[in-house]
Amino acid sequence: MSTADGGPRSSSERRTTDRAESSGVPERVGVIGGGRMGAGIAHAFVLAGADVVVVERDADAAGAASARVLESVRRSVARGGTDRGFDALAAAIETATDAAALADCGLVVEAVPEDLELKLEALGRAERVLAPEAALATNTSSISIDGLASGLDRPERFLGLHFFNPVPASQLVEVVTGTATDPALVDDAEVWIASLGKTPIVVRDSPGFASSRLGVALGLEAIRMLEEGVASAADIDAAMELGYRHPVGPLRTTDLVGLDVRLGIAEELHRRLGERFAPPELLRRLVADGHLGRKTGRGFYEWSEQ
Ligand SMILES: NC(=O)c1ccc[n+]([C@@H]2O[C@H](COP(=O)([O-])OP(=O)(O)OC[C@H]3O[C@@H](n4cnc5c(N)ncnc54)[C@H](O)[C@@H]3O)[C@@H](O)[C@H]2O)c1
Repeated sequence: MSTADGGPRSSSERRTTDRAESSGVPERVGVIGGGRMGAGIAHAFVLAGADVVVVERDADAAGAASARVLESVRRSVARGGTDRGFDALAAAIETATDAAALADCGLVVEAVPEDLELKLEALGRAERVLAPEAALATNTSSISIDGLASGLDRPERFLGLHFFNPVPASQLVEVVTGTATDPALVDDAEVWIASLGKTPIVVRDSPGFASSRLGVALGLEAIRMLEEGVASAADIDAAMELGYRHPVGPLRTTDLVGLDVRLGIAEELHRRLGERFAPPELLRRLVADGHLGRKTGRGFYEWSEQ
């Protein structure tokens, strides 16, 4: 499906035309932290038919979060990605600085920065105002779900919903189950994610979940192959792009994600899963030299020329 401005229409946008018949998302959804991910998550639920409240840390941050969500909504409307008008969608978005605004939500997704204490505090504040049957989720990419659940009174109503960046264009959401997560909540979460036009996969709480663990494993092996002189970076990437139909090879992906980001994840997986995730020397050296990938102009490739 193409759009008026020629860009591809995301699957979440396609789904919204069905919204009136069968919106499978909770009527009111809360998002804590309206940054890059939180704004994307808010946008996805608004398009799927929910009323959304974004809770931020202060009024300035709330204003910025509101602008981010509204800009995404404006783009979706301009592309024809929704059958509702901008004003109706904008009216379904609210921002607040007090967790009390989350009280009537059927689902709250926490998307504050990746810091254990910050997340425990944000989740605890939300749980205190939510109805007992409401669901609480975190968008953490690396913190243990069980670790976060240990700070909650109702761990059975808590799970991970790991959205990918950028949210509107990504197809996948990892539904991460903690030891105490109620299986009925997992079923509900799968329906919600499908209603956003995305595909849920269910993953038990474990380091790197499914996506980072597999993605980093492939990336580290590709770096070791480059280190050993098995093939050039371009040929290693071509092996996966042409041989296995990966849209982007593992070294180019590492350049796009950031070598420093990948090194950080590898160190964490090394600590928790053992030697097979030991970061290669080449990765450490490139990071130490400031070659972090596309954002610095050089990683495994030269980006200034591309
Ligand atoms: N950026 C990514 O590629 C990506 C991908 C998947 C998951 N994640 C995860 O999503 C989460 C958010 O990441 P992000 O990239 O959106 O970060 P971000 O820095 O863009 O956004 C965080 C937002 O949280 C707000 N915030 C901070 N403290 C708060 C508080 N106490 N109460 C309410 N709001 C508060 C900030 O003002 C900011 O708007 C992290 O856990 C991250 O690991 C990020």
